[in-house]
This record gives sequence, structure tokens and C-alpha cells, in this order.
Amino acid sequence: MGVLIIGAGLGGTLRSVIQYAIPQNSAVESSFPTLILVLPNGNPVHTSDIAVNNPALVTFDYPLQNEPNFLLRLGDSSNSDVKVGSYEVSVPATGQKYQSPAGVGPYGSVVAASAICQHLGCIPPELRFHTPSSSSFGGQIHCDCHGSTYDPYKGFSIVTGPTKSPLPSIVLSYDSTNDTYTASQLIGATIYGHTSDLSGGNALTTKGAVVNTVEG
Ligand code: FES
Repeated sequence: MGVLIIGAGLGGTLRSVIQYAIPQNSAVESSFPTLILVLPNGNPVHTSDIAVNNPALVTFDYPLQNEPNFLLRLGDSSNSDVKVGSYEVSVPATGQKYQSPAGVGPYGSVVAASAICQHLGCIPPELRFHTPSSSSFGGQIHCDCHGSTYDPYKGFSIVTGPTKSPLPSIVLSYDSTNDTYTASQLIGATIYGHTSDLSGGNALTTKGAVVNTVEG
């Protein structure tokens, strides 16, 4: 009888330890949602809705609520579209390398990435895109919090620290028939503060990823 009691006690203790040691799965999505980009009125975003080198902050939440991403249509200093290629991006924090998604849209110039700074999590307006003709940080995304800069023309790779991770890229696809854009995945470093890009928040409840423009 005594042995049985001890055995039951050990079993209970072991279960508790296992439950503590294995992180609870807090994922609110089992896979990345595929969401068309829409304006606040629900209409799909078309290319003409995205200004080349728009200095305003154009963001949408993805893959979860309150996780802002930049939507950029990149151009040169004359505001002509620039075709953005895929780029090998390094993650100094982990030694990982990955290929960034190429730009999409009729000119291959539309890209998107997390707007959560990978250093300590600052978001727009502290983290913002500076147009190529800007006198400071031209063509880069700069974080006013501690000075990290990222290059959106090269897969949102790191230009200067203190960040040790690039901005995670959004995989966009373009429907040329309807001139619409769809977000289907995040790739690269895990979003700052998350153990997984699909956990730690609340699932989006909208049918599309709503694009908002906020003057910084
Ligand atoms: S939070 Fe952006 S540089 Fe520190």
C-alpha cells in the first residue's frame, strides 16, 4: 500500500514537471492566414492606392492583431518604380541566412515587412521609411529608438545595429487580373518578442489585412 501511494505521488509530480517544462502551445493560428490587402472601406488595395516612395506610414496587421507591417512601393530618387530582387539576408543573431521575397506588382516594386524593430520592439512612427531623396537615412528604414537601420531594397536586411536581426519579410503575391495583393506568410527572423510568428497574440478577425495610412 505504501509503495502504491509513493508511486502515485511520483507520477503526479512527474506530470507537473513535464507540464511545466514543455511550453504550452499558445498558438492562435496553426498556419499563416492568406489575406487580401484591403482598404479600411473593405475594397481591395490596387497598385494606384500605393504611392511610390510614400513618406507616410502605410501599415497593416499580419499575421496576428497589433502586429504592424510596412507596405512599401519602392522607387528611385525620381520616384520611378524600382524592381526589387530576392536577396540573401543574414541574421547575425542566429547565423541563419534566407532569401527574401522579390518585389511584386506590375513593376516588381511592392514589398512588405514587419514594422516591429527587431532590437527592442519599437514600432512606427519611431520606426519609419525615409524616401531615397531624404537627406538622412535616404532609402532606409530607421528606428529612432536606438538607431537601427534596415534596407528595404535588400530584403529589409540590417544596415546598422544595434539590431542583430533583419525585419521579417511578408510574402506577397500579386493578382495581375484584378490588380490586388495578398499576404500569405512571414519569413526570416521571428518577430521580436515572439517564440513563434503565430503565437503570443490574437488572430485577425477581419476577412482581409486592412491597410491603414497614418501620417507620421
Ligand atoms: S528598438 Fe529599434 S533600435 Fe532599439
